[in-house]
Amino acid sequence: MAILKWSPEYELGLEAIDQQHKQLFVIINELIIATEYTRPNTELLSIVERLESYATSHFLAEEELFSQYGFTGRSEHEAEHAVFIDTVKYIRKQCRIIDAPMAPKMRDFLLNWLSHHILTKDKEYRKAMLN
Ligand SMILES: [Fe+2]
Ligand SMILES: [Fe+2]
Repeated sequence: MAILKWSPEYELGLEAIDQQHKQLFVIINELIIATEYTRPNTELLSIVERLESYATSHFLAEEELFSQYGFTGRSEHEAEHAVFIDTVKYIRKQCRIIDAPMAPKMRDFLLNWLSHHILTKDKEYRKAMLN
């Protein structure tokens, strides 16, 4: 079972943001484990709800930084955030109506999205802030 492992390559050097990313790793790993062991859907649903709410506030925190620093890549970046939130909302709705484990492809999407987004998009805005 693939889970997300934190490593220094994910660090942006922004204390608050790094903590939020670590917390997103924790929630997604909870989701991976819950899916793997086919826990009841109520448990899965509560993790998905936490993910939606935590990711929403994390993205807002980043988007505030974009305004503060006048980051030119903001619309493209925010569109990626929106895709993630839309997917989490879709999964939440699916959890409510279907009493079945979350599809592995959904779980893999979340895992890969987060890892790839931090290493590419988040690193990009961090670089722009330092210029
Ligand atoms: Fe981001
Ligand atoms: Fe981020």
